[in-house]
Amino acid sequence: MLKAVWRVGAAGIPVIEEFRYKKRACFGPRRVVPRGFSNLRPFWWRRFNFVERGVCSLEKKILEIKERVLSELKKAESFDAIQEIRVKFLGKKGELTQVLRQMGTLAPEERPRIGQLANEVRALLTERLEKKLSILREQEKEKKLKSERIDVTLPGRPLRRGHRHPISLVLEEIKDIFTAMGFEIAEGPEVEWDYYNFEALNIPKDHPARDMQDSFYITDEILLRTHTSPVQVRVLEKSVPKVPVRIIAPGKVYRRDDDATHSPMFHQVEGLLVDKRCTLGDLKGVLLAFARQMFGQDRQIRLRPSFFPFTEPSAEVDISCVNCGGKGCRVCSWTGWLEILGAGMVHPRVLETTGYNPEEVVGFAFGMGVERIAMLKYGIPDLRLFFENDIRFLHQF
Ligand code: PHE
Repeated sequence: MLKAVWRVGAAGIPVIEEFRYKKRACFGPRRVVPRGFSNLRPFWWRRFNFVERGVCSLEKKILEIKERVLSELKKAESFDAIQEIRVKFLGKKGELTQVLRQMGTLAPEERPRIGQLANEVRALLTERLEKKLSILREQEKEKKLKSERIDVTLPGRPLRRGHRHPISLVLEEIKDIFTAMGFEIAEGPEVEWDYYNFEALNIPKDHPARDMQDSFYITDEILLRTHTSPVQVRVLEKSVPKVPVRIIAPGKVYRRDDDATHSPMFHQVEGLLVDKRCTLGDLKGVLLAFARQMFGQDRQIRLRPSFFPFTEPSAEVDISCVNCGGKGCRVCSWTGWLEILGAGMVHPRVLETTGYNPEEVVGFAFGMGVERIAMLKYGIPDLRLFFENDIRFLHQF
């Protein structure tokens, strides 16, 4: 079987490649010059090949491309421009690559020389491109460094100084007043046993007083403390049988309340004094001294009978209105008085529970809400302002 393939040979001379298949072996290709074409090149062949379509024009083209690249490179001022030159000349479809494709048309003896030239030009151009790129990169870096220079002699921006939260301010003031009178500061946990929060304070499980303070229970026996009074029990348990005991216990407490004057979390300061001798008069004296330091020397206080399971007798304590001085106004609901705390003489059962002998010692206790005191002191209408952390509000203190 014979299979012939025509193709255009080196110098444009058609060539037939003829494959002769035998039964088992295959010989070929065998070059056959078709009729009318001479196997020998005509006398003018070398000249024609050299001048018109061969060596000479290819060499010229290569050198010309080199010059053009170099001059365009001189003008190029950006990465994009350089990339463009690279694609235009050295890329897959670039001019130099196109020219090199024509190497096939050269006479075999010219190929090595032109090939070498082409390679040298390509290497040179690649190198120049890289060089220009690195120069540009340097320039870019320099520019960036210049524009991003930091002037270390510029004065810094002043930090705005913060300050205490109004609740902290009032708490500090309360602590100062009582520590000056000889009270020490005690603390207790915010997550409290039902025993300390209620039971030991003479509020058994079924006692209706629990309803007023129902809280966030964690288990049946553990809750978030509803008041600071459990610290009374903890301190007494630890101090027994020593007297006098004189403490205040500031801290956070939690109740299921939420409105303009109640928050589910708020602050209380508990006071407790236990000694061999102590009267309701002492309690009143201490609270009057406190009220006057906190709200001004012309404040009056009054005690109204009340009920707490852990004090007997018990009282609500009012101060003469900070707004009208007692004449009656909107702030005090035209009564002339403002309620600020609960107090009383420590119930004998509390003393007993903690190990003291109620026949030998007596005491008084009081508990006040810090937010309430701060609202009265600063004339703040809504308790929730304390916890919203609005800078415009906080900056006023
Ligand atoms: N614990 C009481 C309350 O939260 C206040 C109080 C404290 C009353 C101490 C009397 C004695 O309402």
